[in-house]
Amino acid sequence: MAALSPLMTIMMRASEKAARSLLRDFNEVENLQISTKGPGDFVSAADKRAEKIIYEELVKARPDYGFLMEESGIVEGKRPDYRWIIDPLDGTTNFLHGLPHWAISIALEHKGEIVAGLIHDPVKDEIFHAEKNGQAFNKRRRMRVSGRSDLLFATIATGAPRRSVKQRQQFLKEYETVLGAAPGLRRFGAAALDLAYVAAGRYEAFWERDLNSWDIAAGILIVKEAGGFVSDIDDKKKNPVDTGNVVAGNDKLFNEISKLLKSVGPAK
Ligand code: IPD
Ligand code: CA
Ligand code: CA
Repeated sequence: MAALSPLMTIMMRASEKAARSLLRDFNEVENLQISTKGPGDFVSAADKRAEKIIYEELVKARPDYGFLMEESGIVEGKRPDYRWIIDPLDGTTNFLHGLPHWAISIALEHKGEIVAGLIHDPVKDEIFHAEKNGQAFNKRRRMRVSGRSDLLFATIATGAPRRSVKQRQQFLKEYETVLGAAPGLRRFGAAALDLAYVAAGRYEAFWERDLNSWDIAAGILIVKEAGGFVSDIDDKKKNPVDTGNVVAGNDKLFNEISKLLKSVGPAK
């Protein structure tokens, strides 16, 4: 049992408060007011309420830090070196359909590096979290990436882009290539949880393109602190938090999955 740091205590308090609000709304999902934000990208009233709760809790605890939030965008802080990156509800489509697979994602960035991450799944009562150079936990239990080293027996998660035809074609090529080597593919629709599950040893790997930093900032750190590897799909020198093209995996299969994706290459 590890004691929570003051920083993680703050993050957890904010997410637990937002989780109570989201759970109430999830139980009444049919009555939710929804608005369209773009093709296939729905934002619910629950989403905005949760973001406001998280914002207010974090601002109370750390009044000088900045914010990057999915719904409200950027709020500059007095201290430009610290910034919270927040997705108040990852897996919105699942949430709106009553599918119990969605999460809150909160990351803290310091001088351009993610130093703390938390992914909270209120329905399953799981809280995945990590701080830089620490360890990764689900609540108080330590997590490690899985030890499986055979693609044939691996479960690998992915997500499909919903925007252009070109992106869809790229996805289908990648899907076919990975499927040829690893039949256990999954698509659950919450990128933050996909990364958390790699960290928890439930999936051996995950890849997805065209994500936003709030989908993956917390999860990338949690995977690394659980002993996994994460990079941009096309260029190892790039930061996937910036590019949104992410591949993550356990130490045994990360290179193989990366190579398979590289063999397809970026869309032309
Ligand atoms: C989405 C989820 C989904 C991924 C989408 C994201 P949202 O986030 O992470 O798994 O495939 O690209 O936009 O919209 O539910 O917060
Ligand atoms: Ca998201
Ligand atoms: Ca969201």
